[in-house]
Amino acid sequence: MRYRREFDIVECQEVYPPSEDTFLLLEALEVSSDEAVLEMGPGTGLITCHLAACAASVVAADINPKAVKCTDANLRRNRLPGEVRMSDLFQNVPERFDVIVFNPPYCPGTERDRLALSWAGGPKGVEVTARFLADAPEHLLPDGRIIILLSTEMEAQALEEALRPFRRTVLGRRRLFFEELWVEELRPLD
Ligand SMILES: C[S@@+](CC[C@H](N)C(=O)[O-])C[C@H]1O[C@@H](n2cnc3c(N)ncnc32)[C@H](O)[C@@H]1O
Repeated sequence: MRYRREFDIVECQEVYPPSEDTFLLLEALEVSSDEAVLEMGPGTGLITCHLAACAASVVAADINPKAVKCTDANLRRNRLPGEVRMSDLFQNVPERFDVIVFNPPYCPGTERDRLALSWAGGPKGVEVTARFLADAPEHLLPDGRIIILLSTEMEAQALEEALRPFRRTVLGRRRLFFEELWVEELRPLD
């Protein structure tokens, strides 16, 4: 999916702004026009806007109420369809999807203020991701897939454990000064 600069995106206070990881995930994403997509943790909503322009339908769910407002405002500003909900992972998301996209909080940390929710992934940086991966298969339609951003900031062994139930394909990779980011497509093994 190519970054479409014609989208009019406004950043919001206490909400994760589009960053290197956002752009890497965006580059690796491919969805088709008949697919139902969930973006978990949309932040400012740049990826949600791209998905809304390409997919059959998009739902976005974020634990930060300011991110929910920000994503909703950016969808409306660009006259794009889509539903944005406040939810701790799948708490308020009962449906199933063809594709679930997540750029999770992946740094070690347990802070809970609104902006910290965007980077603090738990003591090993993996806990939010592990919770997400444990529940996500129940929210996939047959032949559905997860597309997720991962980082060397996450504790490697805990991450491998969380990824064990999936068939994994690397879709993109970027080395930054202090970490490496990559994107994987995951399909449940069963
Ligand atoms: C790294 S930011 C990514 C934002 C955006 N998708 C992007 O790529 O720019 C992680 C996002 O996940 C949200 N988040 C963190 N924990 C969450 C949870 N338990 N349930 C839902 N969203 C969560 C944060 O509020 C934040 O918006």
